[in-house]
Amino acid sequence: MSSTGDELREEVRRRYAESAQAVTGEGDGCGCGTGSCCDDSAASAVGSAKFGEVLYEAEQRGELPDAAVLASLGCGNPTAVADLHDGETVLDLGSGGGIDVILSAKRVGPTGLAYGLDMTDEMLALASRNAEQAGIKNAVFLKGLIEQIPLPADSVDVVISNCVINLSTDKAAVLTEIARVLRPGGRVGISDVVAEDHLTAEQRGERGSYVGCIAGALSRSEYIAGLEAAGFDEVSVEFTHEVADGMHGAIVKAVKTEAPGQKGLPVIQPASRAGCC
Ligand SMILES: C[S@@+](CC[C@H](N)C(=O)[O-])C[C@H]1O[C@@H](n2cnc3c(N)ncnc32)[C@H](O)[C@@H]1O
Repeated sequence: MSSTGDELREEVRRRYAESAQAVTGEGDGCGCGTGSCCDDSAASAVGSAKFGEVLYEAEQRGELPDAAVLASLGCGNPTAVADLHDGETVLDLGSGGGIDVILSAKRVGPTGLAYGLDMTDEMLALASRNAEQAGIKNAVFLKGLIEQIPLPADSVDVVISNCVINLSTDKAAVLTEIARVLRPGGRVGISDVVAEDHLTAEQRGERGSYVGCIAGALSRSEYIAGLEAAGFDEVSVEFTHEVADGMHGAIVKAVKTEAPGQKGLPVIQPASRAGCC
């Protein structure tokens, strides 16, 4: 595996560019048609039913262009847990072929907006084509990193993501960025691969590759602590299905802390901290 964060990110980008090309028939990708999260070891061994399109209701799949369904590489269905409403602004981190952006855009309706953010040009091109084919007018795809979200502070009601945060080489930055772009009281509804707490980083690495969404997974406690440190309340991480020994598809939920003072918390002025700590 690559030694530096930048090299690892480039490896991830290359891998998912190939996945997008496989869907459009332009390249020889990594089994996305089988619905896998492109893993080549443990996750594939336990079966492709753990990732991809099978995690969506048949009715939802029926609303989507075939290429959007085929490109699905997630480990859950965040749109099913995010409880989206008319008029809301949603941001999908690592939007891939666009499946969750299209479903979100339909849920929030013409007065709402769904952003998809991805670093891979081939995925962005595929997602734009899929959204156009689905007749979606209220979706915008952005090129960028989930560690440096190209949106202003307090501009989003809901952040969703499907099997992407495990791929980040700087998860603390991602969680801090999610907190920045969400409005106070805004919500997180994420699907991700999450490890049981007893698994060391090395043991996670033995169960699958980094680009295949396994080796980079946080543990349940790490996820909860990271979200709390970034300013979230009501944090929960619920395992839904095992994807490798001790590693699970999980639903991660949280709410951005309301501004201090708005929910009765004391507002600590700098002067009152003098002499303390
Ligand atoms: C496993 S695929 C999931 C795609 C989509 N969420 C789905 O459910 O089908 C991971 C996606 O995240 C993107 N990605 C991975 N790391 C990223 C990063 N640090 N910043 C932006 N996009 C990233 C990849 O380009 C790829 O499209």
